[in-house]
Amino acid sequence: KPLVFSGMQPSGDLHLGNYLGALVNWVRMQETHDCIYCVVDMHAITVWQDPAALKKAIREVTAAYIAAGIDPKRSILFNQSQVHEHAELAWVFNCVARMGWMSRMTQFKEKAGKDRENVSLGLFAYPSLMAADILVYRATHVPVGEDQKQHLELTRDIAIKFNNDFGPRIAELGLGDGFFPVTEPVIMGPATRVMSLRDGTKKMSKSDPSDYSRINLTDDADTISQKIRKARTDPEPLPSEEKGLEGRAEADNLVGIFAALSNRSKADVLAEFGGGQFSGFKAALADVAVAKLAPITGEMQRLLADPAEIDRILAEGSARARAIAAPVMASVKDILGFVRS
Ligand code: TYM
Repeated sequence: KPLVFSGMQPSGDLHLGNYLGALVNWVRMQETHDCIYCVVDMHAITVWQDPAALKKAIREVTAAYIAAGIDPKRSILFNQSQVHEHAELAWVFNCVARMGWMSRMTQFKEKAGKDRENVSLGLFAYPSLMAADILVYRATHVPVGEDQKQHLELTRDIAIKFNNDFGPRIAELGLGDGFFPVTEPVIMGPATRVMSLRDGTKKMSKSDPSDYSRINLTDDADTISQKIRKARTDPEPLPSEEKGLEGRAEADNLVGIFAALSNRSKADVLAEFGGGQFSGFKAALADVAVAKLAPITGEMQRLLADPAEIDRILAEGSARARAIAAPVMASVKDILGFVRS
């Protein structure tokens, strides 16, 4: 049976890339699938987090999910650290995955930079925990932005290797011929890779030192308009057709954002704005962005006024998540040959 799992790190404000690349699709998938959405607090601590700021960010990300349209009654919404099976299965996967697989992860290479000796061991093993997040529910579909594709390929490799390494044992226990599913990444929409507003060759990210590089879900209307007005562009007018965006990263990015925010195709947006200057287009883009994001920001603020209610939602979601994860983890222990009571 298809089951959706995805998560975001509470390591700062969510931004337009998180929203358009992932969250919008999460909301849609609730219509057709059973969904589990997680705030991955254990992933956040792969780099040092201030404890008070982390607690605040966990609640903020939860509020953002709900404000964007995740229904905690229908979908399971929880934070990772409350379901210890994630950590347990991650350890097992640390023993299945190979050093070479992890060493090839581009996100690790980017984050570690030149100082490889000094990053946490957790940062290196990060994709193993991500595989555990997904597979502890035996989830089949994972909606994410483009940048998570390589991690999801690794998740597939881990599932396949586990199924092979323990194939006879899995069959003997009558647990089917593939215990873990080979998960499908779901990377869809016109904004699977939202770029920085300051540099069309870099992705929009929480860790960019310039706040002008991104639109945060907590930004007010004036800030959003100002950031769009200041976004980098080139001197040419907008093209009338999509192929005219080739080699124009900044223009391509803004058109993609417009299309995603207004539920239109890029071709359709260019049919309206092609041939015009950026100033008019940017003003229209700011209007669309504010119209879409202001209600979400407002709803987030309303939810955050009652942190106890957010904590209650997370506790309830965690109990529901554990009810699925615990029997899977018990089967994993049986497969491995662990003694359990
Ligand atoms: P994170 O927290 O960096 O990002 C959360 C989601 O937002 C997407 N995203 C983007 N999409 C388009 N354009 C961008 N500029 C952009 N920036 C971020 C990401 O692709 C992601 O979908 N490792 C994950 C979290 C995670 C996870 C999981 C995801 C942990 N366990 C299991 C799926 C399944 C991460 O760091 O995402």
